[in-house]
Order: sequence, then structure tokens, then C-alpha cells
Amino acid sequence: MNQVNILDLGNYAGEEVTVKGWVYTTRSIGKIWFLILRDGTGLVQCVVVKEETDDETFNLEPILTQESSVIITGTVRKEARSVGGFELGVNSIQINQISEEYPISPKEHGTDFLMNHRHLWIRSKLQHAILRVRHQVIKASRDFFDQNGFILVDSPIFTANAVEGTTSLFEVGYFDRSAYLTQSGQLYQEAGAMAFGKVYCFGPTFRAEKSKTRRHLTEFWMIEPEIAFCDLEQDMDWAEKYVSYIVQWCLEHCKTDLETLDRDVSTLEKVATPFPRITYDEAVEILKKNGVDFEYGGDFGGTDETVISEQFDRPVMVHRWPAEIKPFYMKRDAENDNLAMGVDMLAPEGYGEIVGGGQREDDHDTLVKRIKEYGLPMEPFQWYLDLRKYGSVPHAGFGLGIERTVAWITGIRHIRETIPFPRTLTRLEP
Ligand code: 4AD
Ligand code: MG
Repeated sequence: MNQVNILDLGNYAGEEVTVKGWVYTTRSIGKIWFLILRDGTGLVQCVVVKEETDDETFNLEPILTQESSVIITGTVRKEARSVGGFELGVNSIQINQISEEYPISPKEHGTDFLMNHRHLWIRSKLQHAILRVRHQVIKASRDFFDQNGFILVDSPIFTANAVEGTTSLFEVGYFDRSAYLTQSGQLYQEAGAMAFGKVYCFGPTFRAEKSKTRRHLTEFWMIEPEIAFCDLEQDMDWAEKYVSYIVQWCLEHCKTDLETLDRDVSTLEKVATPFPRITYDEAVEILKKNGVDFEYGGDFGGTDETVISEQFDRPVMVHRWPAEIKPFYMKRDAENDNLAMGVDMLAPEGYGEIVGGGQREDDHDTLVKRIKEYGLPMEPFQWYLDLRKYGSVPHAGFGLGIERTVAWITGIRHIRETIPFPRTLTRLEP
């Protein structure tokens, strides 16, 4: 007997197969009843007819509660009106477990209730679709860097270094000393780039974000490439090539999921290189022209980012930022020492910053000066400073936040739904 996934049923028309899964719904019309089965790959309608099965099987309908786990054997039939275009004429149903009353019903639940039941909520259609897109975004990312000659160099999660400022560090006990959970794998990628030329890492990163916004998690996943002999312009070339690759990949491979999510893909279809590149100063001009009260020198807030991104039909890259609001490691503009050679990519449709990166300071003494200026302890950076002593080269890289990217591609406003088990200021469970 063929044991098959619902997704593949079409290859078995006319054959008897076994499908293992969970009961979605049942519905009886007398001498015949229907069961919608889900198995993680799709849904299929199973038809139970009195004359075609034994009494025991036929009488199961009232027992099979939502989410009961079952193994169903039946014959695959083409049925245009059914979900997926095929249905299963049931021969037998084997019960694994009869589910207790399932807490999530089609009626409206509040987000807090659903988040408290996240371990079950991920079975639901929309959440399922979002997480499948996440899977494809990650696959596309790995493929992109693999195909372009980047080597995966994993960065550690325990670290002694503050990368992205000291206010958002998670400190943890580490035997007789303390350590931080990494905010970014970047510094180690810089070492990797000097060893392999082009490298990337992909892993969870941690920030003690006290802000409760729809764009912030305390644990999020970042993909971080780093390239030796690369300046800011070339860094932006890589970023736009990569982001357009992800979007094209998802348009091609996530059609059904994006449809399920009701995503208007016409805006995603416009995402092709080159992306517009504007300076921070130009971005501030846009804000002024649109009547936003913004003080020059500050970081853009969520609404500022939306106003800027609304001027463009594809992601926009904002570069050359006031140095004070950017981290210690950024190289300064040769023409203006007050500007850091950083770049942020803002997604269209108000999804905010999805990429942050730039060119790194590659001069030893300047970097020492910066570490002091930023009030960071010198000791943990000794290894990092070594990279500027032994064959230093211009280099650059960036980090793309997976959750914000998935939020944009799926059209989901809040990033807590783009990660299986979100961690926020107030949420550590489930
Ligand atoms: O701009 P960020 O802070 O840049 C870095 O960490 C660099 N060291 C990366 C590098 O150059 N290798 O973060 C990069 C991206 C942001 O653009 C955003 O997409 C995401 O990481 N991000 C967050 N996503 C969810 N929740 C948070 N709290 C995030 N903070 C940053
Ligand atoms: Mg940033």
C-alpha cells in the first residue's frame, strides 16, 4: 500500500493509498459523510459512503473530533470541486488518538489567546502559510549565497563583545564570568572574510529590546554576509541582488501560500534591481517635503521609514548616516568624517528596515580610537583588532532580518507571526 502525502495525491489517481494526518472537519448528510483531513502538506476531502465501508467505519463520524489523529486508507479520485482537485473514497479509518475539545475554533480569538496557544495555532491555515514562506525565504537565502561562492562560517552565540550598542545586551552567566548572547554575528564574519573572501552566517540573534513594536523581537534570525575587498557601493550591489532573488524565488515557489494569505503580489513583482539609493540627507529632505517634523541627526522611526519608502515602488537603500547614531565599527566617509558608510534598506509598503550594514573601519588605530570614543572595553576586542594588523583590507557586509523580510513578503503587519515561537518583552511561553 502506498503511504502518500496529500500534496502528491494527484500522482495516484485510481489507486488505493494510505494518508496519515489530523481531522480538520467532518460533515454528515445521512448515508454519506465527509472528512477533511490535513497532513501538513495539504488538505483532502475524504468521502465515507455507507454501502462502501463496514458499519464500524461508517459510525465513526460523531466520534472524530477536530484534530483527532487518524490513518485513512482509500481510493484517490479526481474531483474538481474538492480541495486540491482530488478526493479520497474511504475504505478504512484507523484512529491514533481522539482529540480533546480543541481550543482553537473558527470563531474569532484575540491575538493574546492565539499567542498563548501558539503551539497549536501553527496548525491553522494562515499561520501555516506564513511559516512555509519563512522556510522558502531561508532556503532562497542559503541558495543565493551558496551559488555566489560564499562559505558558511557559523558565528558563536555566547560572546564577550557588544556589537550593536550596550543598551540591548542580554547578559548570561558563563561559569565564573558573564557573557552576552550575540546581537549580531558580524565581527566573526569579518574574521571569516579575511580567511575565505566571501562568507555568511545564519543564526538567532538576541536583543533586549524594551520597545513593544510590531517590528521588534528579542530573539530574531539574521543572515549576515561579509565580503573582503568590498566597498559600500559593492555592498549595496550584493544587498539588492540578494533581496530581489528572495522575492523572485517566493513569487515562483510560494504562489499558493501567498494566495492563501491574500497577498497582493503585484507590488512584489516590481522588486527588481537596481534599487534606488539615497543618502540620509536626501531621506531627511523627503520627510521635510512630506511635512514630517524630524530633527536632523536622529534615527528614523517607524512612521518616518514608511513615509520614505512610500516614495518608491521597490526597496530603497539609505546610506551615509550621521556617525553618532551608528555603531563604532563603521568606516567614515572620506569626504565627510561625520558620516558613517552604513546602509539601511527599507522595504516598500511601510514594512520598515529589513537590512542594515555597511563598510567597516579597516584601519587599526582609527578603530582603537572609536572603541574608546564609544566607551567600550578594549580587552574583548583584541582579536578583532588583530584583523587590522594582519593584512587588513576594505570590507563590507550586511544583516538581513528574516522575520521582517517574511512580514513584508507575506503582507503580515506584526512580525510575531513570522517566527514559530516569538520571544518578546512580555513573552517567553510557549
Ligand atoms: O541593523 P542591524 O542592527 O545590523 C546589524 O546587526 C549588523 N551588525 C549586521 C551586519 O552588518 N552584519 O540589524 C540588521 C537587521 C535589521 O535591518 C532588521 O531587519 C533586523 O536585523 N533586526 C531585527 N528584527 C527583529 N527584531 C529586532 N529587534 C531586530 N533588530 C534588528
Ligand atoms: Mg539597523
